[in-house]
Amino acid sequence: TPMTIAVDGPSGSGKSSVSRAVARELGLGYLDTGAMYRALAWWCLDQGVDLSDEAAVAQAAADLPLTISTDPDAPHVRVGDVDVTDAIREDRITGQVSAVATNLDVRAELRRRQRLIIEEQRGTTGGVVAEGRDLTTVVAPDAELRVLLTASEEARLARRATERHGAADAVTLAATRDLVLRRDREDSTVSTFLEATDGVVTVDTSALTFEEVVAALLALARG
Ligand code: ADP
Ligand code: CDP
Repeated sequence: TPMTIAVDGPSGSGKSSVSRAVARELGLGYLDTGAMYRALAWWCLDQGVDLSDEAAVAQAAADLPLTISTDPDAPHVRVGDVDVTDAIREDRITGQVSAVATNLDVRAELRRRQRLIIEEQRGTTGGVVAEGRDLTTVVAPDAELRVLLTASEEARLARRATERHGAADAVTLAATRDLVLRRDREDSTVSTFLEATDGVVTVDTSALTFEEVVAALLALARG
C-alpha cells in the first residue's frame, strides 16, 4: 500500500537531509517543498516582480513554470529552461523567500501542486517523503506517518554555521544567527507553522546524530 511520510520542522532541524535518506532507504520519492517557495522567489527576482506587490507575486505563482525532481539521489529544480538547483540556495533567496511564502494565494497554489506530486508519487514509486513547514498539518494531514523534527536554537545555528562555513565558532555563529532567526520570525507570521497536532510524532534532534534521527524515522515507518 502507498505511503506518504510528512516531515515538518524549522530551519536546521534536519528535515531535508533526514527525509532524503529515509526516502532512499525505503525506495520512496522525495519532495522538498521549501525548494518550490525558493524557486518562486528566484523567478520573481529574475522577472523583476516586486516582492511587496502581493497580487503580482500571486500571479507569478500561478504562472511559475516549475519542474522539481523527486529522486532522492538527484534533487534538481528547474524554472523554464533554467536549472536553479544551486541558485535557490543563495543567501539573496534565503533572505527573501519568506516574503513569497507568507502570501496566502501563493501557499494555496503551491500546496495544490504539492498534493498533485504526492498523489502522482503514490501511484508510481509507492509513496513519498515530503518535507517543509505545513506538510503534517495542511498539505498531507492524511499521511500514513507525520513527524515534526525540532532542535534547540543553539543546535540549529551550529548546524547551519558548520554547513555554511565549515565550523561553528563565535564568528561563523554570529554570521549565521541573523539569517536563520530572522527567517524563523518572518515564517512564524503564518500561523499554522510548526505546531504538532494530534497524531504527529515529535522528534527532538538536538542531542541525536543524523544517523540516529534517520533510524528513528525508519523504525516509525516500519511500525
Ligand atoms: P533543514 O532542512 O531542516 O533546514 P538540513 O537537513 O539541511 O535541515 O540540516 C542542516 C545541517 O545539519 C546539514 O548540514 C545536516 O547535514 C546537518 N544535520 C542534520 N541532522 C543532524 C543531526 N541530527 N545532528 C547534527 N547535524 C545534523
Ligand atoms: O532548509 P530550510 O528549512 O532552511 O528552508 P526550506 O525548507 O528550503 O524553506 C525555505 C522557506 O520556504 C521557508 O523559510 C518558508 O518561508 C518557506 N516554506 C513554507 O512556507 N512552507 C513549506 N512547506 C516549506 C517552505
